[in-house]
Amino acid sequence: METTLIILKPDAVQRGLCGRIISRFEDKGLQIVGMKLLRISNELAADHYGVHKEKPFYNSLVSFMTSSPVVVMAVKGNNAIAICRKMMGATFGSNAEAGTIRGDFGVSNSFNLIHGSDGPETAKEELARFFTPEEIVEQDRAIDTWVYDMSGDEPE
Ligand code: RTP
Ligand code: MG
Repeated sequence: METTLIILKPDAVQRGLCGRIISRFEDKGLQIVGMKLLRISNELAADHYGVHKEKPFYNSLVSFMTSSPVVVMAVKGNNAIAICRKMMGATFGSNAEAGTIRGDFGVSNSFNLIHGSDGPETAKEELARFFTPEEIVEQDRAIDTWVYDMSGDEPE
């Protein structure tokens, strides 16, 4: 089981798309184990997007991410990191595949609605950046016996 960090970016919150985007993760069978609304500070944005510091889009990215509240979520499931990235679609809304979140809800390249961790190491770092351990609420779901094949040692 993996847990990944998802951010519904300021455009998703302002456009009232959070419910529909969250529903997609729930419909898929993924489990939400953390969720909150917050306004990202300049420091937090710089930390989160530090890897892009030298990129030409960095300043506009930080001002976008700090412009309005975001919803951050910890999303859990088998292969949750790759599954969420696939559900998000390509970075730019203009060429994201139909059927993906970015492909279905946006046309902009910079305002692309959603962030998802891109690997196990970044997921760990990013979850710790946005959530205290107490804010991750592990819970058993009765429905997991129908979401996964639980007949073996691991959920399949
Ligand atoms: P994210 O980190 O937000 O999940 O997105 P990503 O992995 O698909 O894309 P990444 O390359 O990490 O870029 C981070 C965010 O920077 C903005 N961006 N703008 N105008 C541009 O050329 C450009 N390139 C990237 C996007 O908001 C992208 O999600
Ligand atoms: Mg990225």
